[in-house]
Amino acid sequence: MKILVIGGGGREHAVIKALKRNISVEKVWCLPGNGGIAQDAECYPVKATDIEGIVAFAREKKPDFAVVTPDDPLCLGCVDRLEEIGVPCFGPRKEAAIIEGSKVFSKQLMKKYGIPTADSAVFTDPDEAKAFLKTHGYPTVIKADGLALGKGAVIVNTFEEAERTVEDMMIGKIFGESGSRVLIEEFLTGPEVSVLSFTDGNTVVPMVSSMDHKRAADNDEGLNTGGMGTVAPNPYYTPEIADICMKTIFLPTIEGMKQEGRPFRGCLYFGLMLTPKGPKVIEYNCRFGDPETQVVLPLLESDLLTVMQACRNGTLTADMVKFKKGAACCVVSASRGYPKKYDTGYEITLPQTEKDEYIYIAGAKLSDGKLLSAGGRVLGAVATADTLRQAVKRAYALSDRIFFENCYRRSDIGARALKALGGK
Ligand code: AMP
Ligand code: GLY
Repeated sequence: MKILVIGGGGREHAVIKALKRNISVEKVWCLPGNGGIAQDAECYPVKATDIEGIVAFAREKKPDFAVVTPDDPLCLGCVDRLEEIGVPCFGPRKEAAIIEGSKVFSKQLMKKYGIPTADSAVFTDPDEAKAFLKTHGYPTVIKADGLALGKGAVIVNTFEEAERTVEDMMIGKIFGESGSRVLIEEFLTGPEVSVLSFTDGNTVVPMVSSMDHKRAADNDEGLNTGGMGTVAPNPYYTPEIADICMKTIFLPTIEGMKQEGRPFRGCLYFGLMLTPKGPKVIEYNCRFGDPETQVVLPLLESDLLTVMQACRNGTLTADMVKFKKGAACCVVSASRGYPKKYDTGYEITLPQTEKDEYIYIAGAKLSDGKLLSAGGRVLGAVATADTLRQAVKRAYALSDRIFFENCYRRSDIGARALKALGGK
């Protein structure tokens, strides 16, 4: 099997390493990949948003299967175009990727199919949005409709902040056209849980749950980032809550998408908040999460390629997807300054990994045989173990064996989850 993977971060590195556990995988290409992924796949500098470049590459190399992971190419119709030239793909078509591409669409879907989520109102006119905000209670949440690099949701505590945010999004266009429509949403509280799922459009099989750590600094302080670390499973996500989510969220979403003529095949990510009134959807993503994937896939016992092919072919069954018992932790090493200004080009020294340890490279390039940092989030150090406590300890021990100048990491990944477990 020759496989083409689109994307170039830690998530794609984790996907590629998991795919390569299948011995029939003889070749993996990654577009654009990165200097670390280059150890596991042949990387070419074709951007993930260059759909015609990807199609031209696929015409030449003739992969047997393609996996499209980032949101942009999915929303641009990369899967549609690759399937058109005969390459079977894991990932939703454009018509289904809209579940992430438009928050207005996903809100309407949830309303129509009775899926629990925060109450909200949509605005295309900044003055109307401001008038609404004047009489509104705080805190509240303002969201840009379209893709905004994961930064499109802003929690505001006063009318002044709300007014500024509406102006930045709708007039200043800080997220480009994504901010032409905004959602003003009820502020929810409760633990957050990420649940990635495999689906073939009819059957949905949740993966092990996980917990992201989005803020830059310890104790969930500082700016929002792409994710500074993850643990799996998420201790707040009990079997009882999993049952409720299946009935009230996962199945109605898959059914709703089918009813709308937009069957979703691929990985559907449910961003949930466990509110005092029950689990509610905060967001859908049309793809694997980053860095959730880095803790979920090392716990997958089943063959990833087989499951992905079943999603593509409409033959997915629940018994195909098995996870190991135990836990995983991912600690992200970033460049100091991230998510604001940071330097790149520092040489990265990687240790040998032992059993149940993984290093997934997110932002690095190869230069004269050296691996140099090339992004804000540079890599994730992952360990799996029987208990969460051991996994966290090992992920930090592995991180301590990794060196690059100006390396920054949070020191409390997993702390909240361990507390919820009562220290186990
Ligand atoms: P999103 O861009 O929708 O993933 O939101 C980013 C983060 O903002 C989420 O992970 C939550 O922590 C927070 N958030 C989003 N929507 C809400 C909401 N309605 N109430 C409270 N927090 C929210
Ligand atoms: N970790 C959140 C995301 O991938 O959007």
